[in-house]
Amino acid sequence: MFVGNGSDEVLALIFASFFLKERPLLSPDIGYSFYPVYAQTFGVHLVKIPLEDDFSIDPDAYRQPCSGIIIANPNAPTGLLLSLADIRKLASEHSNAVIVIDEAYIDFAQIESGNPEAQVSAVSLINECDNVIVTQTFSKSRSLAGLRVGMAFGSASLIEALTRMKNSFNSYPLDKLAQAGATASVLDTEYFEQTRQQVIDLRTSLTAELTTLGYKVLPSHANFVFARPKDGNASAVASALREQGIIVRHFDKPRIAEYLRITIGTAEQNERLINALKALQVDASVVAE
Ligand SMILES: Cc1ncc(COP(=O)(O)O)c(C=O)c1O
Repeated sequence: MFVGNGSDEVLALIFASFFLKERPLLSPDIGYSFYPVYAQTFGVHLVKIPLEDDFSIDPDAYRQPCSGIIIANPNAPTGLLLSLADIRKLASEHSNAVIVIDEAYIDFAQIESGNPEAQVSAVSLINECDNVIVTQTFSKSRSLAGLRVGMAFGSASLIEALTRMKNSFNSYPLDKLAQAGATASVLDTEYFEQTRQQVIDLRTSLTAELTTLGYKVLPSHANFVFARPKDGNASAVASALREQGIIVRHFDKPRIAEYLRITIGTAEQNERLINALKALQVDASVVAE
């Protein structure tokens, strides 16, 4: 295990340590926006692999020479989850590459198997696949973004390489306060379970309400949903909501311009959002008449 000043720092050190200039790094065309930034900073040739039409990841699309693969799982901003079987397949088909699974949102993932003990995190693969490195963070499910604590799990040799790279930048990136806060969070299992379950339950109800309003909502495993309004005019919805002090994220980018990323709020915030969306639909139908 390796810890750093937020998982962004851990990811930056991974880019600096593992990817070669002559063989590309593969990543989905829709994913965490920092990967292209790190690729540029560290001179890594990033090749984007298109997601399927339903925004899922097909491991077969990654069959090409590479020095690494990086995937956010659950993915951002789609919220979709890649199975452990698919991650295992990527790792075995690319045994000379480092497979990075960025699990910033993994604690919000839920598998439908009905078996609450079933594993969703790729940390369960690191003994079996020595080329898999998994990053996680205290910034999402533990509500401690300002504390700046992130970590990586992987085989001893990957962790040793990361540690050496870290020591040539900053030997002690985690201050005592961050260590104390992160430790207290890990010990408070009850609060963690309660807040994470609350987000999952509110995600279920928000998804149902948005669907009733005609939104297409992708099956989310994160603390946000990715949803398309009936007419696809996501930009207009985002602007109208902003005027009411409700901020949702619209990405003016190919393939996802018709979608909104909506963070799961409290029950009251979600209700305010749904009421605002209903009012917008009434306004639109009045204008149409
Ligand atoms: C997919 C993903 N990875 C990593 C991070 C970085 O989180 P932090 O540096 O706060 O640990 C984020 C934050 O938005 C994220 O969405």
